[in-house]
Amino acid sequence: MTRILMTLLVSLFLTVPLAAQEAAEAPQPDRSATGGAQTLDDILARQRGEKIDDSFRSGATGDPNSAAGAANQLGTLGGASDSEVWRALRYGKGDVTVSTGGPVAGVLIQDGGMKWLQFRQGPLATYGAYLLGGTIVLLALFFLLRGRIRIDGEKTGRTVTRFQAVERFGHWLMAGSFVVLGITGLITLFGRKVLIPAFGHEMFSTMAIASKWVHNNISWAFMIGLVMVFFMWVMHNIPNKTDLKWLAVGGGIFKKGVHPPAKKFNAGQKMIFWSVILFGASISVTGLSLLFPFELPMFAKTFAILNQTGLPQAIGFGDLPVILAPHEEMQLATLWHSIMAFVLMAIILAHIYIGSIGMEGAYDAMGSGEVEEQWAREHHSLWLEEIRKAEGQTEGKATPAE
Ligand code: HEM
Repeated sequence: MTRILMTLLVSLFLTVPLAAQEAAEAPQPDRSATGGAQTLDDILARQRGEKIDDSFRSGATGDPNSAAGAANQLGTLGGASDSEVWRALRYGKGDVTVSTGGPVAGVLIQDGGMKWLQFRQGPLATYGAYLLGGTIVLLALFFLLRGRIRIDGEKTGRTVTRFQAVERFGHWLMAGSFVVLGITGLITLFGRKVLIPAFGHEMFSTMAIASKWVHNNISWAFMIGLVMVFFMWVMHNIPNKTDLKWLAVGGGIFKKGVHPPAKKFNAGQKMIFWSVILFGASISVTGLSLLFPFELPMFAKTFAILNQTGLPQAIGFGDLPVILAPHEEMQLATLWHSIMAFVLMAIILAHIYIGSIGMEGAYDAMGSGEVEEQWAREHHSLWLEEIRKAEGQTEGKATPAE
């Protein structure tokens, strides 16, 4: 009986460590080429978001009991190797206090970059491309079905001043810079995927450096234009009852001969205006935070305010994080900046369409500033009445709205 028990115990002691060793060793790939350090395959697997057993790294922090261990990293030169110290820090096994050097110095390793990279290369780029592509397809379909919206009535040959020179300057400052910002932003986001295969690394490197420089510097023109446009047009963009009538008939853009009344700006234009102001401001603020890295963190504070409203919890996000590393602030700023920019670009594509090929007579408003009186009567009847009244004339009185 004793002999049987002894045999059992001995075999148990012998097999358990062996089995554990086999289980630990089985999934580990061959890392002999790197001397046990991570290989390109490990890095690529991590970038693909695969779950990998990183014990070969997290455990390789030196021998804690020896003079060369991570625990003695701050000893004399010749202590733990650099890579062991960094691994100890990454996996929370090192003990470091940094007291100077600003907020960034307090963070030695920040792991969120991988999630940021995956979101940026994945959903952001994919859905962003779908949004812009889908908008262009819809506009092309609309053009095929509806054609160009013509001036229905007889042209009078008389014109009305629609926008003063300063208004057109503000518009084109904002519009011109937005188009350049949009293109250079897209080069930055899609460059690796689209431009490197097309033009090669050398060429793309030059394009990327130029894009970044232009993007950073043109941003000021956009912000100045945005502020100008806001102050010049905000009074004309306060919603009122006329907007409901305009919306009820879809602005008349889907049917020939339907012209709901409107003041200087109709409900559709008011939506464009407020989108430009709100999305433009959001893009500008996050852009400023990126222009001055780590100086203008804003997400932790915004999240704290949002948490208090109960909104994130109500829509299933739970409590948003209110303590963010400086780098996380920057990562969120780039993502929010791009999401807002994609939405505004889609809206602006529709605006550019209707302001150019989509509607006869519209472009003149921003080109010369003078529009055909019949155009004004059909699209902004109440505004034309106001203008004529102010001029003390009656011959240009707008026809009653349909
Ligand atoms: C680049 C091509 C563009 C063209 C051809 C264009 C054309 C026009 C025209 C013709 C108007 C006057 C409409 C009217 O008389 O009622 C206008 C107004 C306006 N534009 Fe543009 N625009 C362009 C780009 C932009 C961009 C990039 C923005 C903003 C980022 C913008 C923002 C506005 C706003 C807020 C208004 C006033 C509201 C409205 O009419 O929708 N535009 N644009």
